[in-house]
Amino acid sequence: MRIPEELAEIGKKRIEPYPVEGFVYGSGPKHPKLMLVGEAPGETEIGNGIPFSGRAGKELMKFLEMAGVKREDVYITSAVRSRPYKWGEKNGPDGTKVKRKYNRVPTSGEILAHAPLLDYEIKHVHAPIIVTLGNIGLKRLAGKEKKVSDLHGELIVQPVMRLKGDQYEWTEKQYRLFPTFHPASIFYNRSLLELIHADMEKLRELCRNFPVNDQADQDKNH
Ligand code: URA
Repeated sequence: MRIPEELAEIGKKRIEPYPVEGFVYGSGPKHPKLMLVGEAPGETEIGNGIPFSGRAGKELMKFLEMAGVKREDVYITSAVRSRPYKWGEKNGPDGTKVKRKYNRVPTSGEILAHAPLLDYEIKHVHAPIIVTLGNIGLKRLAGKEKKVSDLHGELIVQPVMRLKGDQYEWTEKQYRLFPTFHPASIFYNRSLLELIHADMEKLRELCRNFPVNDQADQDKNH
């Protein structure tokens, strides 16, 4: 499944005012086992156009394996489809300072700019469970007050936020959300690894309980 080209163009236009670069499409089947919602692509992803193909992606693939699912069975997207960057300095080989771009967390304006893209994917990708990776995806879909540290590893059934005009509103439909940590979080906090492993065990069980093409069952809940 790929979002329509006109919508991608709208997304590219809406994000233009912000310090971001590149554009990565969400990718995966229309009826995946899971839909994964990350934060924003990084340098590797904007280079090759493949979501979660960099360092965080390698960790994510290990987590998916623990949950018993393969990359080709999941739809992978993120709240923002371009790489948010900031300028910083790094020591060059001869000791001089070299300017370079660093990744940063997307702002609420950037998330809003790409909200119609994620809204489209939520509507058209029929995943029995939506896994949010980190706080950005969780807050975007489940509400600003939600925190991954409180909710990780729990299945939550609730409406999600979608953009209507320039404001978010709640969908009538209920979705199954499964928050867990962003795979890059373990680079800064190794102790999260155990928690993520436990979350993946729970996710494995949930995938058994809610198999693919479970749409009819979900529709009963709205
Ligand atoms: N983090 C994300 O959220 N998405 C990517 O594609 C890479 C890192």
